[in-house]
Amino acid sequence: MQNARPNWAEVSLGALRRNYRVLRQLVGKEVEICAVVKADAYGHGARECARALEAEGARWLGVTSTSEGLDLRKAGIQGRILLMTGFWQGDEEDVVRGQLTPAIWQPWHIECLQQAAAKLPGTFSVHLKVDTGMGRLGAGVDELPALLAQLRAADHLCLEGVFTHLASAEVVGAADVQQQLAGFDKAVALVKREGFSPKYFHAANSAALVMLPQARKNLVRPGISLYGYYLPFAGKAAIEPPGVEPVLSWKARVISLRELAAGSALGYNGAFVTRRRSRIAVLPVGYADGLSRRLSSRGQVIVRGACAPMVGRISMDLTLVDMTDVPGVQVGDEVILIGANGGLRITAWDHANLAEATPYEVLCSISKRVPRKYVE
Ligand SMILES: Cc1ncc(COP(=O)(O)O)c(C=O)c1O
Repeated sequence: MQNARPNWAEVSLGALRRNYRVLRQLVGKEVEICAVVKADAYGHGARECARALEAEGARWLGVTSTSEGLDLRKAGIQGRILLMTGFWQGDEEDVVRGQLTPAIWQPWHIECLQQAAAKLPGTFSVHLKVDTGMGRLGAGVDELPALLAQLRAADHLCLEGVFTHLASAEVVGAADVQQQLAGFDKAVALVKREGFSPKYFHAANSAALVMLPQARKNLVRPGISLYGYYLPFAGKAAIEPPGVEPVLSWKARVISLRELAAGSALGYNGAFVTRRRSRIAVLPVGYADGLSRRLSSRGQVIVRGACAPMVGRISMDLTLVDMTDVPGVQVGDEVILIGANGGLRITAWDHANLAEATPYEVLCSISKRVPRKYVE
């Protein structure tokens, strides 16, 4: 059955590939890229994005859970898959059989994986996650000696990587970033002193890989920049973006159009009242599709090469747009919620700014109800 509700997200795999190439060029051949496709590739569709990235040369993909990793295996992904937030007890056999590479930082991680790995030939690679100041996941530097001793005794495991995650990489000049990087260097020195020689050291997300070359080490983990958003909260400081382009456009069609007299109340609670005779279009998109209610009477769309304002409260399934100043709008016209047309562009940043959110939240919030259409 055709999707009768004309509201869809267009995902440009060509743009994704170009963004990957931009980042590849930036970090150089010596640095491995782990392309982060967790959370359904930030709402873009993990399977399709992972396939495109793998075809473009990405040898590592980053996800957040065993099930996300296994889903990529089912989709035919052959490359390495990093479980960045580790695994949950009971998943270890799936992790090992699925050839997923988990972050580890707790004694039970090592115990469970050692047992699971013993059932298969060869050794099983793990990456040690170090908490250098995020206060979230990872072992503290003081916990490393005991963990390393346990790892040394775990003969079915191999310490392939050591990594950390930065709390403020996107904040230009943040002091805690330098502290975290210094803490990471200390952890790496300790690991080496204990006789381990992991192949990979990594710390950088998108912001760090662009702004802090010293954080790149020999593997970087970009997520948001692959999807075309380069985010440093630079305040007034101008930061040259690295030339990535948004991958996702969000579109809908006008499903109804009415002429309403001045003084007409629109939508729930009559939150918007027309001040003039108005042509009001209805779009089949609402907060259940992931359009933030905070855009009510504040967001814009692009239609027929012009901008038009959202009016009234965004409801679960529908949004109203004032088309009075856009000549010729008809039922069936394509409307852009996020995307570009001619010289006009609305980005996830624009939605984020209105919704007091980030582009991450805007992209991840576009719900499953919105079909993704893949284009080159
Ligand atoms: C451990 C880790 N590495 C890398 C990333 C990618 O970050 P970004 O999307 O900012 O590039 C994330 C995302 O939150 C993460 O949790």
